[in-house]
Amino acid sequence: MTKPKPRRRLALVLAAGEGVRMKSARPKVLHEIAGRTMLAHALGAVAAAGALDVAVVIGPDRDDVAAEALRVAPAAAIFVQARRLGTAHAVLAAREAIARGYDDVLMTYADIPLIRAATLEGLCDSLAHGADVAALGFAARDPAGYGRLVEKDGRLVAIREHKDASEAERAIVLCNAGPMAIAGARALELLDQIGSDNAAGEFYLTDIVAVAAARGFLATTRIASEDEVMGVNDRVQLAAAEAVMQRRLREHAMREGATLIAPDTVFFSHDTKLGRDVLVEPHVVFGKGVEIAEGAIIHAFSHLEGAKVAAKASIGPYARLRPGADIAAGAKVGNFVEIKNASVEAGAKVNHLSYIGDARVGAGANIGAGTITCNYDGFSKFRTDIGAGAFVGSNSALVAPVTIGAGAYIGSGSVVTEDVEPDALAIGRGRQVAKPGWAKAFRARQKPKKAAE
Ligand code: UD1
Ligand code: CA
Repeated sequence: MTKPKPRRRLALVLAAGEGVRMKSARPKVLHEIAGRTMLAHALGAVAAAGALDVAVVIGPDRDDVAAEALRVAPAAAIFVQARRLGTAHAVLAAREAIARGYDDVLMTYADIPLIRAATLEGLCDSLAHGADVAALGFAARDPAGYGRLVEKDGRLVAIREHKDASEAERAIVLCNAGPMAIAGARALELLDQIGSDNAAGEFYLTDIVAVAAARGFLATTRIASEDEVMGVNDRVQLAAAEAVMQRRLREHAMREGATLIAPDTVFFSHDTKLGRDVLVEPHVVFGKGVEIAEGAIIHAFSHLEGAKVAAKASIGPYARLRPGADIAAGAKVGNFVEIKNASVEAGAKVNHLSYIGDARVGAGANIGAGTITCNYDGFSKFRTDIGAGAFVGSNSALVAPVTIGAGAYIGSGSVVTEDVEPDALAIGRGRQVAKPGWAKAFRARQKPKKAAE
């Protein structure tokens, strides 16, 4: 059997438009969901849907949007829609790309960030099965404002924009989600037929359906769930999309073998990686770039970003792991401990109230409560190196750059400014002075004075 030839697919992502309702200095498509811009979500979906080439249409003077597109998809071609004359006009800004010749031209909007690759592939499957145009429909809870899918004898014959729809057409609940696949061989021919004779005076991409139907070409509908095609126009919708994305990420983590005791209270980044049998207690926040290996436990109220946690390590409750925290197997990071750019090697313990930054804590070392690595002099950062099996007494300040040798002891309350030899004891604090009976004598002097006042 011969495998079917892979289809040459161009993905077009429309990312023009400021999104004035966001009331933001940032363009809408650069707002983030689960730590990733909406544009990156859309580009991720089209890449996973097997696009050979990607074109992104942006508004004029949007170097920031172009830069984000190229960061995520370095091979993407960027096109500028100089004037906002409608969605068909935006698609035609990428005429040069479409003209290269593809089996499928797959179009999606950057402001519907929850679209799944499988759904986009479904649109292209419709083309593979003979359709010339495939639109994505959904049953809208509130159809007002959306284009309506007008079907006749099981065929899609038109998409009518809300503004242009008759009373009868407005009663249709099946709405246009936006993404669309167009047979590459006909795309330009159909797009060039679209006019702007409508209520908005715009070139509507949606009119491609009526244009195709009038020429006897086949347009079909695929159905998506409303959650997946939800559009983001303001910050209320941004939060609603975030909630849907978080639900997906939680379900994914659990299906991959992590236990979330209270999933609704755990917040993930799009790239969080949890191994099997990881236990995440309630109220944990994962920022970007976190990897947790098998069997580790993340106790309640911890905040992690840019951190790696190895197998069976234990973090929190109330721990903060910042970028560059690298916690080895079986190590423990306890309550009110902050770790930044530091490795805590196998079996080491930093259990209470400590700051470990720009440091190495050797295997099996024990860092007492209240230990601080003093890593910053206001200008530069310096490293602290703590050897394997060292024991740092509580409330010690380790003034970097400094090395504590393997197996050394640091007396509690020390300020350590010089390197400590392996297996040595270092004490850096005022010597204790004891004066027998002093307190009793002091009280005996003070009490009569107070009584006389
Ligand atoms: C569009 C669809 C509508 C669908 C709805 C789903 C059209 C004509 N209508 O309506 O059927 O139900 O989306 O949310 O397509 N854009 C450009 N350049 C332009 C105009 C728009 O890049 O000149 C981009 C916008 O930034 C946006 C997208 O295309 O990302 C959709 O445009 P918008 O004006 O929001 O269309 P809707 O009225 O929402
Ligand atoms: Ca819109």
